[in-house]
Parts: sequence; C-alpha cells; structure tokens
Amino acid sequence: MFGRSVPTWGLWVAALAVTIVAVLIGREVLRQQDFPEAWTVSLADGTNTIVDWFTETFGAITRAISDWVTIYMLDPLTKVLTETPWWMVCGGAALLAWQVSRRWRLALMSFLCLAAIGVLGMWDIAMNTLAQVSVAVVLSVILAIPLGIGTAKSDRFQQILKPILDAMQTMPAFVYLVPVIALFNVGGTFYAIHNSCPHEGGPLIEGRLKGFVVACPWHDLAFDIRNGQGTDGGGYCVGSYEVRVEGTDVMVGPRRKT
Ligand code: FES
Repeated sequence: MFGRSVPTWGLWVAALAVTIVAVLIGREVLRQQDFPEAWTVSLADGTNTIVDWFTETFGAITRAISDWVTIYMLDPLTKVLTETPWWMVCGGAALLAWQVSRRWRLALMSFLCLAAIGVLGMWDIAMNTLAQVSVAVVLSVILAIPLGIGTAKSDRFQQILKPILDAMQTMPAFVYLVPVIALFNVGGTFYAIHNSCPHEGGPLIEGRLKGFVVACPWHDLAFDIRNGQGTDGGGYCVGSYEVRVEGTDVMVGPRRKT
C-alpha cells in the first residue's frame, strides 16, 4: 500500500479540497475575510501634514513661478493662438508638417485634422490646450537638458534621479490639475478660479463658500468666484476661467481677461 504512488490528479483533488476547507474555515468560523484593522497603518495624515508644510513654506515661491509662467508665457501664447484666424493656425500646422516630411498628403491631413477640431466646436479649448502643452514642452526641455547632462556625467546622480522619474511617470496626468483650478457649482452654474490663494497659497477649493464669495481656509481672504476679484479691498485677486457645460461634461476654458 505504502509503495504505490499517488496519481497527479489525486494530488490536485486533495489540494483543491484542502483549499476549499481552509477558505470555509477562514470565512465562516474565524471570520478572517477582511484584513485585520488593527494591523493597518494610515499614511494619509502624515502625507497631508507634509503637503501642508510644503505648501506653507514654499507656496510663495511656487506661486511666483506659476504666476510668471502664466503671465509671461501661457497667457500671451493663448492670446496669439485664440486670436489668430483659424485657417492660419491650420495652415501653420500644414506648413510645419510639409517642412518636416516634404509630403503634401501629410500636410493636407494636418490641416484637415486641426480644422476638424473647429468643426466639432472645440477650437478655443484646443488652442488653450495647445498653448499649455507648448509651454510645458519648452519648460521640460529647459529642465531636461541640464538633468540629462548631469545623469550622463554622474552615475550617482542617475541612481538618485531614476526612481524619482519612475514615480512621477506613474502619476495620472490629471493629478496636476487638481491643485490648479477650483471649480464651484452655485445653483447649477459652474465657476472656475485659480485654486492657489495669492496671499500664501491656501487651497481655495477647501474654503467656505457664501453666495458667490469663497473665503480662503488659511487666513480668510475672500474672493468672488465669478471673476476672481478679492472682496476684502486688499488688492488681492485670482485668475478666473471660462466654464462650459456640455451634457455631463464640465469644461474649463481659457483664463478670463481682467
Ligand atoms: S493663504 Fe492667507 S488668506 Fe489665503
């Protein structure tokens, strides 16, 4: 009896039976289907504390950079793209495609594809996006060249930078948008303003809203969400953005001119 080998299928059946019994005991007797709550650790509080400290400490610097980029790069480029005749923008894209490829079919396709965005009623939003992407590309190149040279020259620098870049790549693209725009819904009408308070960078989206006035959660400066103007008479104001609602989509357009 002990000299006989057990067939493979027999082992599989035994393993399955043991697994089923273990699952039943775990679920029905020991009630272990949920991970023990006492063993869980929350990283949220610590992370929020670090983010708050970072925002309070460096908010003025990052806001100054953001304002500079917005005022001197983003706004002028958006203005150029949105105020240039549509056929000129499409023609520019076609010319660029022809210059790069020397193929008239590709140039024609570029013209038509860009024009199709206008036909679908998305011209302003597309130009706004194009301006943002163009500015982002320029800034990325400015940052990437010295970093690339640094990694080529130093293995240690590369080892430090690589995990940081890997972590950044895992972030969903729109995660960057969350702190940028504060979107409010008052009686079914949407209003969008810059989320960062001009005083010390408080997140306006977390502020108290009374009528059309939102109060910054940090030191209570108040802003009219319809136009971003400060209501305290201190001269502070934030950018406000056009908002369009199409069906269930809420689309934030270019910054309003003040
Ligand atoms: S950060 Fe001070 S009032 Fe907003």
